[in-house]
Amino acid sequence: MSDRTLRAPRGTRDLLPTETPIWTRLEHLAGNLATRYGYRRIETPLIESTAVFERGVGAVTDIVEKELFRLAPRTEESEALALRPEPTAGIVRAYIQHGMQTWPQPVKLNQVGPMFRYDRPQAGRYRQFWQFDIEAIGDPGPAIDAEIIELGVRFYREAGLADVQVLVNSIGDPACRPTYLALLIDYYRGHRDALPTTESDRLERNVLRLLDSKDPAMAAINRDAPRVTDHLCEACAEHFASVLAHLDALAVPYRLDPSLVRGLDYYTRTAFEFYLPGRDGQQQALGGGGRYDGLVELLGGRPTPGIGFGVGLDRVVLALQERGAVEPEATIVAVVVGADPMATAVRLGVATNLRAAGLAARADLTHRRLGKQLEAAAREHAHFAVIVGDELTAGEVQVRDLPAGTQKVVPVAELANELTRAHGAHRHGGREG
Ligand code: HAM
Repeated sequence: MSDRTLRAPRGTRDLLPTETPIWTRLEHLAGNLATRYGYRRIETPLIESTAVFERGVGAVTDIVEKELFRLAPRTEESEALALRPEPTAGIVRAYIQHGMQTWPQPVKLNQVGPMFRYDRPQAGRYRQFWQFDIEAIGDPGPAIDAEIIELGVRFYREAGLADVQVLVNSIGDPACRPTYLALLIDYYRGHRDALPTTESDRLERNVLRLLDSKDPAMAAINRDAPRVTDHLCEACAEHFASVLAHLDALAVPYRLDPSLVRGLDYYTRTAFEFYLPGRDGQQQALGGGGRYDGLVELLGGRPTPGIGFGVGLDRVVLALQERGAVEPEATIVAVVVGADPMATAVRLGVATNLRAAGLAARADLTHRRLGKQLEAAAREHAHFAVIVGDELTAGEVQVRDLPAGTQKVVPVAELANELTRAHGAHRHGGREG
């Protein structure tokens, strides 16, 4: 390949028609589940003021410090903009901007779309990736925490990943977390000499992140670190116990994970992640979320609780592909071919009528011989070839059932009905009469 060959930017990729059927299925599933649970669709811009993320996600997080795609300002007075690295902060910005606190609470929202993080690309980690996002704003829980986690579990199950596991934790609130953080800082300071440099740097700035460090040197140190769940205030402890009781009542299996702290600053209380079992250690979450009771206020609204999660759709697709789940591509039902290679207007007319009747149809618009046209129709696995020939003067065409190898004459006026009926019978495994 020459230097002049243009390629998709590093960490981004094209989703080709061979892959998109699985994406289409997951997007439909996401929309369908959101509707079933009463989460309404919201679309927010792919770009936001960087302040939305700096204040919302947190200035001292990997997502904002290292991974934010900042746009170069076009003029001196233009506001600083960035591509969204995640949807929650933008959705909360929209909640405030549009006065959604006056709507019946909670406001339940969903979104499916691309996110952007300037991450080091690897399998399952991209610079543009897709999330299915669910948010419930205006309900302090704990029951809705369980509803949301159960919705996540159902998404994976219906997607074809029934064995996805839920890890749950509570990371406290502004009443109890400061005391816990002070304890944690003390603990790690006591092990300062053994801390890897990156972790040592983070110690004073965002100590919680040390707990879920992937550095093997941290495993032993973390084992004895104080656990947040041992230091929750009474209100947080009660909330957490009730979330778990609701999960039990719904028979949603979960595992408690005191080291689960999430990488975004807005979380309070309930935090959870979804994983495939059996790949301990370095494995990647298929999704995650939690409660963010301080976020609306942080972005300028009235104090309002919220909770939500994001599913990493790219990782779900990868997991399904690894398991050999391949989605059949939708094929054309009928190809209109003809004995007179030049009669493209006639073929196009017949195909147009079939499309108007709701069928997936294509006319062969080339000037090649009938035999070649039929070969092409068979190669793309069309169900029927509609052969336009001399019978057309009598208002009839030949219909060849390509997989069955049978052929019959059908009046043009009956064509759409006949194909719809025969295709339906074929798809449902019935016999054509
Ligand atoms: P998050 O954990 O940062 O949470 O992202 C959610 C999911 O997006 C991850 O579990 C992962 O599956 C996927 N993901 C993240 N980064 C990448 C990447 N670079 N490439 C591929 N997939 C990725 C949030 O974004 C929160 N907004 C979730 C939430 C909603 N919390 C409350 N409401």
